[in-house]
Amino acid sequence: MKKKFKYTYYSPSAEDTLRVGEIIGKKAQAGDVILLSGDLGTGKTWLTKGIAKGLEVPPEYPVTSPTFTFVHEYPGRLLLYHLDLYRLEEDVDWSVLGLEEYLFNEGVTVIEWAERLPVFFHPSYFLKIFISFANAGRKIEFVTNVEHFKTIVYHLRPVYKQR
Ligand SMILES: Nc1ncnc2c1ncn2[C@@H]1O[C@H](COP(=O)(O)OP(=O)(O)OP(=O)(O)O)[C@@H](O)[C@H]1O
Ligand SMILES: [Mg+2]
Repeated sequence: MKKKFKYTYYSPSAEDTLRVGEIIGKKAQAGDVILLSGDLGTGKTWLTKGIAKGLEVPPEYPVTSPTFTFVHEYPGRLLLYHLDLYRLEEDVDWSVLGLEEYLFNEGVTVIEWAERLPVFFHPSYFLKIFISFANAGRKIEFVTNVEHFKTIVYHLRPVYKQR
């Protein structure tokens, strides 16, 4: 198992969160699983919009939270699967959801409320992102054991300095 890497970033605006997502989407490779956690309204869907942009999902496919189903699929440089576990019942039968299909595939999977994922579904290679309210913006914490995601930090720093 690769060593874990951690980094904390402060995002001052919604536009910046979008740009962070875009950098992640550009870096993403087939089979990547991105686990998003954070309170209601912290910006998980917003970050996913950015990831979609980075994956070249055409603008005519706007990214919205999956509500009536727990997954949305978007075409891009790679297929993007956007899952939201928020509305699943506490006693949901994980075995019938077919989650494996989204955790082990050749696309990129983004999961909101990923902390609800049962341990037996935890992917061995991941990018975990924890978003929280911080002043007028957001604190975005990255934890990853995927080599290509470690470099996001170098792409984030200059963005932060410009402000
Ligand atoms: N860095 C930021 N600074 C200020 N506002 C932000 C930032 N990033 C995102 N936002 C704002 O946060 C709001 C909520 O975003 P979003 O809907 O993505 O939250 P969410 O985490 O997906 O919520 P839910 O848990 O309900 O799915 C949006 O209005 C967005 O503009
Ligand atoms: Mg959301």
